[in-house]
Amino acid sequence: MTKLIIDTDPGIDDAMAIFYAAAAPEIELLGLTTIFGNVTTAIATRNALRLLEAAGIDTPVARGAEKPLMMPPFTPSAHVHGDEGFGDIPPADPTGQPVQEDAADFLCRMAREHKGELVICPIGPLTNIAHAIQRDPDFASNVARIVIMGGSLEEGGNITPHAEANIYHDPHAAEVLFASGARVEMVGLDVTHRVLCTESDFESVAAKAPDLGGMLQEMSHYYLAFYRSVGKLDGCSLHDPAAVIACTHPHLFGLREVPVAVICEGEEIGKTAVTNDGRTAIHVCMTVDGPAVKSLFLERLAALN
Ligand code: BDR
Ligand code: CA
Repeated sequence: MTKLIIDTDPGIDDAMAIFYAAAAPEIELLGLTTIFGNVTTAIATRNALRLLEAAGIDTPVARGAEKPLMMPPFTPSAHVHGDEGFGDIPPADPTGQPVQEDAADFLCRMAREHKGELVICPIGPLTNIAHAIQRDPDFASNVARIVIMGGSLEEGGNITPHAEANIYHDPHAAEVLFASGARVEMVGLDVTHRVLCTESDFESVAAKAPDLGGMLQEMSHYYLAFYRSVGKLDGCSLHDPAAVIACTHPHLFGLREVPVAVICEGEEIGKTAVTNDGRTAIHVCMTVDGPAVKSLFLERLAALN
């Protein structure tokens, strides 16, 4: 079993990733930590609790940072995920509450208690991870793997021509992680642009799993409409589900081992690039068996409910 914590800004593809994790028999979900990005941290926390309650999963949610390490707060990506994060689905209050500990303290404690075993999958900006690294000098070595959705080596950006959105929203935090010496695996646009779903894929999931699959199908309309408006890809990218799948199915991805830095100022801010400043190499996913990742995603979701 993979002991997993997902650090998330739900978000439509975040919801897909969390429901996927709920359905995956090889994942033990030890908690969710929340972050701004697609929505504010307050909405992300509410949405995370709502998703867990919908899926019937009892696991802690720890609320994360409200703003980036150094950049000013920014407006969430409502044009991709809707004002409340789930497209046109109206907001709803969960019954549960986040735990008292904040996200970085929760991550540090869980990494200590599950030393050498914990996998963290950040699928939003990396602010909580940077805080954890800065708070606990053992955090980076206590964690087994940090598998991020973010960045791009050769694919170009999706929020600017150079930058992927999660890195762009807190480039300094990403730089703290990439320079930390932790075992980092980067699931960026080089691979997530090759894992796509269409309207009919979500229809089939909803037909087989009316409750949770139906909820994802309802959200997917808004997300697919954004991708249609950009017009580059034939469907919507399964960014965040691909990162969760990389945690448990690494053989579906081809890695390049290189040290990576983040450009933190100027026109190319948020760009991830190979560096030769002596830091530890990270594992960048450069190829993916897209059909296999997509099939796994659809099969597992269809078995939900
Ligand atoms: C990433 O940005 C967010 O919009 C998505 O949820 C995903 O984590 C893709 O660049
Ligand atoms: Ca996300």
